[in-house]
Amino acid sequence: MRTQITRRTLLSLVLGLLFASMTAMGSCPGDFQVLLGQLQKQAHSMQDPSTLLDPYMRIQGLDFPKLRERCKEHPGAFPSEGALRGLGRRSFLRTLNATLGLVLRRLAAIQQHLPEARGLEKPPAARLSTQDLEMLKMARLNIHGLRNNIFCMSRLLGSSWDAAEPTQAAPGTSPPPTPDPGAFQRKLEGCRFLHGYHRFMSSVGQVFGEWGKSPSQSHRHRPPRALQKEARRPRPSRSSKRLVPRGQLPR
Ligand SMILES: *[C@@H]1O[C@H](CO)[C@@H](O)[C@H](O)[C@H]1NC(C)=O
Repeated sequence: MRTQITRRTLLSLVLGLLFASMTAMGSCPGDFQVLLGQLQKQAHSMQDPSTLLDPYMRIQGLDFPKLRERCKEHPGAFPSEGALRGLGRRSFLRTLNATLGLVLRRLAAIQQHLPEARGLEKPPAARLSTQDLEMLKMARLNIHGLRNNIFCMSRLLGSSWDAAEPTQAAPGTSPPPTPDPGAFQRKLEGCRFLHGYHRFMSSVGQVFGEWGKSPSQSHRHRPPRALQKEARRPRPSRSSKRLVPRGQLPR
């Protein structure tokens, strides 16, 4: 169990560095399938509770089965998968971008209340805790990396998509009202929020997965002539180009 966590942690860190460096480069992949593959990978890694919720639970001392049961997403805190599916691509990207903005703000608030930030004594498992704190920082970098790719995808889809798609209602992502919560209640709200975040990212991954299945739409940013030309040639196998396997990875 312990080694499994460590290996997953390392994998997440490596992915985090990868996305962070991509962000630092500030360049956009010009190819739709490459960009979509990156977005799918990012969503897939972010849906994993070991990247954020688990470290948070350990840092906050909430890592007990009874508390895990109570740590469930507030209904409506994040857009549902159905609502996301109902959005056009640009609206979906805008919703995702806006929601990630809220998550970043919430993570900043959460980090302000961590024992480390308040200068309190470190819990006994200090080594693990340090690693967990790094995971939280990495999660924020990853979100910035994803946002960068959302920007790239919005640009790739072009402004013509604006007119074609109705703008849907803003995401229902306002955090639930928590009037002056005690410290414990605040910790619990944090974990419910993060639970929702991972579920949301899983739904986002599902929707991005659908994007790869509709070639006519995914190639709409190309000039029509190029499309006609391509239609006469035999198409290369789509599955060979896909970067992320469709099925769930073993957890
Ligand atoms: C994402 O949201 C930020 C504000 O939080 C905004 O500055 C940025 O332009 C948005 N990006 C896209 C692609 O909509």
